[in-house]
Amino acid sequence: MTRVQVLASAQELARAASWYIQHRLLEAARSRGRVLLALSGGSTPLPVYERLAKLALPWDRLHLFWGDERCVPPDDERSNFGNAHRTLLSHVPIPEANLHRIQGELEPKEAAQSYENDLRKFFGSEPPSMDLVLLGMGADGHTASLFPGGPELEESRSWAVNSEPPAGTEPALPRVTLTLPAINAARAVLFLVAGLDKRPAVSRILKVIGSGRETPAGRIMPKGELAWFLDREAAPGQG
Ligand code: 6PG
Repeated sequence: MTRVQVLASAQELARAASWYIQHRLLEAARSRGRVLLALSGGSTPLPVYERLAKLALPWDRLHLFWGDERCVPPDDERSNFGNAHRTLLSHVPIPEANLHRIQGELEPKEAAQSYENDLRKFFGSEPPSMDLVLLGMGADGHTASLFPGGPELEESRSWAVNSEPPAGTEPALPRVTLTLPAINAARAVLFLVAGLDKRPAVSRILKVIGSGRETPAGRIMPKGELAWFLDREAAPGQG
């Protein structure tokens, strides 16, 4: 099932998203005891992380993963882990052992293999069924670090691979990303998308779900719920 919610502003988007996430995580804790969440990179989720840090969540039972990482050390300002640490992790009691960080400081291939090993150790042979995967989207329709026309899009066995952003993508850094099989094994996926520049890609994907398959974001079809939270600027058909 696909759910689309249009919020009046990026601020309202952050508020609605943090409630949605809280609801999903509490439900997972109630029904399965542990909670598996994959965080998104980019700037749009950061105000959401700041709000989550102020909420009552089952932090001790939460395992955190990442949808992707830029290949830089965690103290680099472009690090997705670093930004999550600054806005969320440093403010809440999550056990260090529950942080499944992508080691951006390693060589891209090595970092991807190390993350793959961590995922296989945690999930065994079953596809990694996260309770919730958070994703953003670029104006070109890329999501996590799955880029239009990239070989990583066709990966069918691995759960984590390295990828190269096309020219013009910021930051112009090698990446490590979850693959489509890993993301689509999730119980729920939440897209957080804000800004006018994203509207054309959103229109293509949402107009006829499934036909936006030329874009990486259009190939996100989780086994559970797919939710798109958009600000008015990113939403098709809004003034
Ligand atoms: C990354 C992200 C990437 C991001 C989009 C949107 O590491 O860059 O995972 O997929 O979500 O580029 O980025 P913004 O939210 O900053 O617009």
